[in-house]
Amino acid sequence: MSHLLLLLPFFLIPLVAESNNSSYPNCPTRECGDATISYPFWKMDSDTTTQFCGYQGFGIKCSGNGRQNISEITLGGDSYYVQWINHECSSILLADSDVSSVVPGPNNCPRVHHGINLQTLPLNFSILNVNLSFHFNCTGFPSFATEIPCMERSEGKSCVHVMNSSTEETDWDEYSCTDEVVTPVIGEHINGFPNLSTDFGELLRRGFELEWWRVDDCDKCEESGGRCGHHNTTGFVCFCSDGTTSKGDCKGTFVSTVN
Ligand SMILES: *[C@@H]1O[C@H](CO)[C@@H](O)[C@H](O)[C@H]1NC(C)=O
Ligand SMILES: *[C@@H]1O[C@H](CO)[C@@H](O)[C@H](O)[C@H]1NC(C)=O
Ligand SMILES: *[C@@H]1O[C@H](CO)[C@@H](O)[C@H](O)[C@H]1NC(C)=O
Ligand SMILES: *[C@@H]1O[C@H](CO)[C@@H](O)[C@H](O)[C@H]1NC(C)=O
Ligand SMILES: *[C@@H]1O[C@H](CO)[C@@H](O)[C@H](O)[C@H]1NC(C)=O
Ligand SMILES: *[C@@H]1O[C@H](CO)[C@@H](O)[C@H](O)[C@H]1NC(C)=O
Ligand SMILES: *[C@@H]1O[C@H](CO)[C@@H](O)[C@H](O)[C@H]1NC(C)=O
Ligand SMILES: *[C@@H]1O[C@H](CO)[C@@H](O)[C@H](O)[C@H]1NC(C)=O
Ligand SMILES: *[C@@H]1O[C@H](CO)[C@@H](O)[C@H](O)[C@H]1NC(C)=O
Repeated sequence: MSHLLLLLPFFLIPLVAESNNSSYPNCPTRECGDATISYPFWKMDSDTTTQFCGYQGFGIKCSGNGRQNISEITLGGDSYYVQWINHECSSILLADSDVSSVVPGPNNCPRVHHGINLQTLPLNFSILNVNLSFHFNCTGFPSFATEIPCMERSEGKSCVHVMNSSTEETDWDEYSCTDEVVTPVIGEHINGFPNLSTDFGELLRRGFELEWWRVDDCDKCEESGGRCGHHNTTGFVCFCSDGTTSKGDCKGTFVSTVN
């Protein structure tokens, strides 16, 4: 009996008000190029240096090159173009800005310089990705790797391969490569662009997918129908749909089936 009573409060816990039709005056949805920027992402501008509604690190810079507006996010100090944000799947499609000319250019031989550093952000690689491993400026390469002839002029022998558990065991020491970069691409895209030797640039431009999840300290706020944000002096804030802000949650918009 006492056990039942202890459990009861948990059944009363939120049937959350999804409130997707409310306005959240502090959390505007913005367009930038092809991307629609909405919570938990937010558009960086002069106002958001004081406060923003969204997750830390999820700020998107919108810049124009005269012909089009481009959405860019910075992860681990590196810049990525935001190609698509899918709120239903909590996924985002990004492309490394080093290799992805937004305006298609003559560069068919892009050089990746870094892997993807997700730091401690609430982001993870989607299962749709496979990893491409690039080795640059080598004296040779194992037979499973594909040579990249267009790199030869600048960097000697370079190659690429799709990583899997068996290729990971390779000892590359004998090939004396001077650089190695691992970066994800969408696995399915390789069906359309199977010749890594010439298609690797297109695969990189098409990008990779990350998934996001709710940050821990945001649970209470979101579960009460609020949206998490940050203020430069007070730190964490919870933005409620009626335009008010709170240090904790939005109790006023709490909805429960049991009264
Ligand atoms: C949320 O939006 C969808 C589609 O716009 C709509 O079908 C649904 O009823 C909305 N839910 C609430 C709680 O407003
Ligand atoms: C939002 O949704 C609620 C409940 O689903 C509904 O009562 C309200 O009229 C809606 N408001 C707007 C502006 O659509
Ligand atoms: C917070 O932002 C305001 C407006 O940009 C600025 O004047 C103030 O110095 C900032 N405070 C801190 C602690 O960074
Ligand atoms: C770029 O964004 C600005 C400001 O949001 C807007 O006025 C302009 O029309 C946009 N340009 C293009 C090409 O979409
Ligand atoms: C992130 O992805 C890896 C591999 O797909 C998985 O093992 C791990 O559990 C994921 N982490 C979270 C927090 O989802
Ligand atoms: C790709 O590499 C990253 C970083 O090393 C790793 O977290 C991820 O799980 C790998 N993905 C696959 C599909 O192996
Ligand atoms: C390529 O490797 C050679 C010899 O290992 C080295 O001298 C050269 O600086 C490297 N070139 C680049 C672009 O890293
Ligand atoms: C791993 O990749 C290599 C090179 O692409 C391929 O030959 C091999 O069949 C793959 N092994 C597995 C277990 O997928
Ligand atoms: C891939 O493309 C290169 C360069 O065009 C070509 O030499 C090679 O035969 C192609 N490989 C396959 C498997 O089609």
